[in-house]
Amino acid sequence: MMNQTALITGASSGIGLELAHVFASKGYDLIIVARRESLLLDLERQLESIHPVSVTPVTLDLSLPGSAATLYAQTSSSGRHVDVLVNNAGFGDYGDFTETDVQKNHDMLQVNIVTLTALTRLYTPAMLERRHGGVINLASIVAFQPGPLMAVYYASKAYVLSFTEALASELAGSGIAVTALCPGPTETGFADVTGLEKSVLFERFRPVPAKDVAEFGYRAWEKGKVVAIYGLPNKSLVFGERFLPRGVTSNLMKWMQKKAV
Ligand SMILES: NC(=O)c1ccc[n+]([C@@H]2O[C@H](COP(=O)([O-])OP(=O)(O)OC[C@H]3O[C@@H](n4cnc5c(N)ncnc54)[C@H](OP(=O)(O)O)[C@@H]3O)[C@@H](O)[C@H]2O)c1
Repeated sequence: MMNQTALITGASSGIGLELAHVFASKGYDLIIVARRESLLLDLERQLESIHPVSVTPVTLDLSLPGSAATLYAQTSSSGRHVDVLVNNAGFGDYGDFTETDVQKNHDMLQVNIVTLTALTRLYTPAMLERRHGGVINLASIVAFQPGPLMAVYYASKAYVLSFTEALASELAGSGIAVTALCPGPTETGFADVTGLEKSVLFERFRPVPAKDVAEFGYRAWEKGKVVAIYGLPNKSLVFGERFLPRGVTSNLMKWMQKKAV
């Protein structure tokens, strides 16, 4: 019997790389996508030497308009169908919104929202036809509240959460399991890329290993969980915030985002 295929964006590092390990260990062939080609090639070699799966690296910048269509055309022309789509690629930016880089904001929204949405739109109809498949979207615990000093990133994850919950409802009973994976601070390149490593959030909420988050995400998706928040401290934070006025939550997040001294 042929292996199923999972397409994972942002598999060159962090949570995406660990998700690639998990899916390969479950016998999935992989299509792994990111910009850093050499990391993808290393991962291809590593996974194929450990597991009886085939790994196809695709070097692509997902911030480019039309990149979802390019990827879809590439995988379709090779006759591959994708059983599970993992929209993991994403990044943030730190600082006062009025001082942020306009192009960087645009690219962030493109990767975190536009490409994620387009890939989901392109790959789900074939899953629906087969009445089998899955989508895992990387949201975050930041999706549940506004995020001063990372306003665009938090808002982008709120979109991912809302979109994913709505999609899960539309696809209920279709054979396609849809999950929004919501980690808190995780040990990856994210804090460096974002400039967040010295924030109260990352100093006080000790980041957890990306491997644990990936394994948790896979299990949650397998069980058909729609919103999967990693870890008790994160679940408690999200639960507690329900009882606070939005303004208070906003100020609380501003404090958490501040650089710790
Ligand atoms: N770490 C955390 O604390 C945390 C918490 C909650 C949610 N998340 C979310 O988890 C996801 C994975 O992040 P991570 O923490 O694992 O960070 P990471 O180690 O920096 O990984 C980000 C991945 O996204 C890829 N990526 C970024 N921009 C891209 C682009 N323009 N085109 C193609 N690929 C791109 C990167 O690949 P290349 O650089 O090779 O392109 C990399 O593989 C993100 O969506 C992030 O928002 C992270």
